[in-house]
Amino acid sequence: MERQISILQQEALLKFSNCTSTAELEQIFLQYFGASGSFTRLLKDFKNIPENQRPKLGKLANMVKKELETAYSLKKEKIIKAQSEETIDVTIPGNEPPMGHLHIVTQAIEEIDRIFSQIGFTRVRYREIEWDWYSFGSLNFPPDHPARDDFETFFIDAAPLPKYGRMLLSPHTSSGQVREMERMHSRPPIRMINIAKCYRPNWDISHTPMFHQFEGLVVDEGINITHLKGTMDYFAKQYFGPERKTRLRPFHFQFTEPSFEVDITCGVCLGKGTLPDGQKCKYCKEGWLELGGSGMVHPNVLAAGKIDPKKYTGFAFGWGVERTYMMKSGTKLDDNRLLYTNDIRFLEQF
Ligand code: PHE
Repeated sequence: MERQISILQQEALLKFSNCTSTAELEQIFLQYFGASGSFTRLLKDFKNIPENQRPKLGKLANMVKKELETAYSLKKEKIIKAQSEETIDVTIPGNEPPMGHLHIVTQAIEEIDRIFSQIGFTRVRYREIEWDWYSFGSLNFPPDHPARDDFETFFIDAAPLPKYGRMLLSPHTSSGQVREMERMHSRPPIRMINIAKCYRPNWDISHTPMFHQFEGLVVDEGINITHLKGTMDYFAKQYFGPERKTRLRPFHFQFTEPSFEVDITCGVCLGKGTLPDGQKCKYCKEGWLELGGSGMVHPNVLAAGKIDPKKYTGFAFGWGVERTYMMKSGTKLDDNRLLYTNDIRFLEQF
C-alpha cells in the first residue's frame, strides 16, 4: 500500500508539471481524485488492510493528498499567469484576408476587349432588352423567320411599337450592328466590338439561358473578305497562341452575304487530326474546331443603318465568350452551367 501511494504521488506530480492548459490539468486531477479516480479507489481499499497499519498509512495518504492538491493549485496559477502574460511576436506573419478575383467570364471579356482595342476597335455594350427591329428586322430576317419563335427567343410581355415591333431579350450581339451605325450617324469608318449578355431559352451542359457574345463590325470603303480573314487570324493567334490558324467555311446567316463559320486549328493535335501515336484526335473534327459565325455585312443591313451599300462594305463576326474561353486549351469544362451557379469552390480554381 505504501508503495502504491508513492507511485501515484510521483506519477501525478509528473503529469501536473507537463500540463499546458487548465482544462488538461483539471482532467488529470480528476483522474486521481474524481469519484472513480485512482487515489479515491485506493482510499476505499483501506477497509481491507490490517487495523494496526491503518493510522500510519492514513497519515501518509492524507499528506500525499494535500501535497498533490497544493501542486495542482500552484500549477493552475502558473498556467493562468503565463496565458495573461503572453507576449506578442510581431515577426509572425499575419492572417491574410481571403483574396477574390474576377469571374472567369469577366477575365475573358477583358482579354477580348484588349486584343481588339489594339487594332482600333471601339468597345461598346448594347442592350440586353431590345426591340425586334434591332435583333431581327434590321438584320434582314423575314417576318416569318423561325428565330422569332417563342422557343428560340424570350419575348417580353409589353406592347409592341409600330416602328420597332416586339420587346425581347436580345438573342445575339448582332442587334448592336445597326445601333452602332446609328451611334456613328451612319458615317463610317466603323470598328466596333460589342460584348454583351445574350438570352436564349436553352439549358443543358453546353447552354445557359444567359450567355455572352462578342460581335465585331467593320464598315468602310473597300472592306473585303481578306480583312475579315486577317482579323480572324490575328485574334486566333493573340487569344489562343501563335501556332493557331483559322479557316472560313461557307455557311448561312440572314445578315451576312457571303456567310462563314470560322474554324480554328485544334490546340491538342495542332490541326493534324491525329495524335503523335497515330490515334484520332478526340477533341476536334479532323484538326479543326468551330469558333462561330461571320460574314460580309448584307447590303440590306447597311441600308437599315442608313449607310450606302454601293459606297461602303463591311464584315461582321459574332462568337460566344464562354465557348471561346472554353476552347482555350487547358480549360476542360464539361458543364457550362457551372459558370453561373456561383459555387465558390468551382470559381476560385481559375
Ligand atoms: N449572330 C450570329 C449568332 O448568334 C453570329 C454572327 C454574327 C454571324 C455576325 C455572322 C455575323 O449565331
